[in-house]
Amino acid sequence: MKFTTTPDALDQLNVDCVLIGVGTDPDNTPYLGPAARSMDEATGGLITRLIDSGDVQTKVGRCVMLHTADHPGTERILVVGLGEDQKRDRMAFKKALTAAGKALRQSRAVTAHCTLTEYGLIDADGPWATRQAALTYAHADYVYQATKKPKDDAAPATESISFSAGEGVADALHIAEGVAAGVGLCRDLGDLPPNVCNPPHLAKVAEQMAGDHGGLAVEVLNEDQMAELGMNALLAVGQGSECPSKLIHLRWRGGGEDQAPVALVGKGVTFDTGGISIKPGNLMEQMKFDMCGAATALGVMKAVASLKLRINMDVVVAAVENMPDGKAYRPGDVITSMSGQTIEVHNTDAEGRMILADALTWTGQNVKPAAMVDIATLTGACVVALGHHASGIMTQDDALADELINAGLEAADRGWRLPLWDDYQEQIDSPFADMKNIGGMPAGTITAGCFLSRFAKDQTWAHIDIAGSAWAWGQPGSATGRPVGMLVQWAVDRVGGWSAALTR
Ligand code: BES
Ligand code: MN
Ligand code: ZN
Repeated sequence: MKFTTTPDALDQLNVDCVLIGVGTDPDNTPYLGPAARSMDEATGGLITRLIDSGDVQTKVGRCVMLHTADHPGTERILVVGLGEDQKRDRMAFKKALTAAGKALRQSRAVTAHCTLTEYGLIDADGPWATRQAALTYAHADYVYQATKKPKDDAAPATESISFSAGEGVADALHIAEGVAAGVGLCRDLGDLPPNVCNPPHLAKVAEQMAGDHGGLAVEVLNEDQMAELGMNALLAVGQGSECPSKLIHLRWRGGGEDQAPVALVGKGVTFDTGGISIKPGNLMEQMKFDMCGAATALGVMKAVASLKLRINMDVVVAAVENMPDGKAYRPGDVITSMSGQTIEVHNTDAEGRMILADALTWTGQNVKPAAMVDIATLTGACVVALGHHASGIMTQDDALADELINAGLEAADRGWRLPLWDDYQEQIDSPFADMKNIGGMPAGTITAGCFLSRFAKDQTWAHIDIAGSAWAWGQPGSATGRPVGMLVQWAVDRVGGWSAALTR
């Protein structure tokens, strides 16, 4: 999908659909912005008539598609409810955009013009609204196609959406296009079946990405190389699989030479059966999404490289498949990690922390990042705690927690902090090793974070559990592309915001 700016007046457009908003002003009467009013006038008061009759409603996200021969610039008008002016915050606006994008996707329109951004938000400016609009439309346009072709009579994808030219609009659309490319990659990888998207596939995707973007360097470590480095915790998880495990490293240096990079470390379990501690059968197919941390890290890098941002970033992906097998690791095994710390395996289904342990150690030693964030579909308990609306953020560093939470707010891709107090650490003590890999029922998300913290001791580090946010559970077309938006924003904020990070 392409985003463009146009200097043209509405009646000079030539698009399949114009999106207009309807809101309510402080005394609760319906309110039309200038563009909506001009569409209303050009159609002989059609919009106000339909508001009066109740066919068009101003509630957030209510959409009505009108067909009209009366307007010179378009034959369709999508009227979108934007709710009360004084309550229209970022999340309300995003909700309206999501509904609008869905209505547009289901229509026959392939070109459109959006005027919804003429309405103000109480907590964001115009460029923010434009960026979010473009991102949300791109999101709504996505249909999984890798292994299923759309039916002949399926609604067409939207080809282009224009916005009226104005201050900051072109930059906002440029940013949205880059971030959307990253979100799209993340969703594509997440939705792919596990017989296609296995560790070698993730390595190939990273290599292709490096080929596509000048300045992006890639390195892939195989099992022998990892064995040489003592990455036994990562290798233990993969040893029950026919697929070889991979450690994938991408490196982008768009910033100054003196600027230490940020590092993202992604959990890439391309399928999680649980291993010998095998999972129950129902919903096991959802464990193809257990590589969404890796997909997020790769998606962020895709956005960064597409936009050629002035930042330094490393992405490290631990890619393995967790299978039960004669060669699989077992409960009771004691494994010496790359850090030298020993781990007693109590449950082979707590495999994400095993692979991340070595990936974090490797990243700390080889990248020497200014800050390191891992992203993982780590615990079912995180879904119990936070549901699907927030990613779980854990860190002992208050400043880093604030950075991530604020980036999530700015990107409408929210995270919420859980504590990583030392009090929880004793739950993973073991008499046979430096730690065991599970901490029991209480605070399962936090004890998983505690485990990881032991492999990031000398680092500025945070862990993001995306078990609830990475995909829409049980729904088709399911990977969400989260938290690519949050993490691109975080990396950009660290160098001083978009004006400092953009190269154009
Ligand atoms: N990938 C799962 C976590 C998960 C489960 C994410 C369901 C989303 C939905 C992870 O590897 C896992 O199996 N975790 C266990 C940990 C337990 C054995 C301590 C869990 O959450 O049950
Ligand atoms: Mn597991
Ligand atoms: Zn897992």
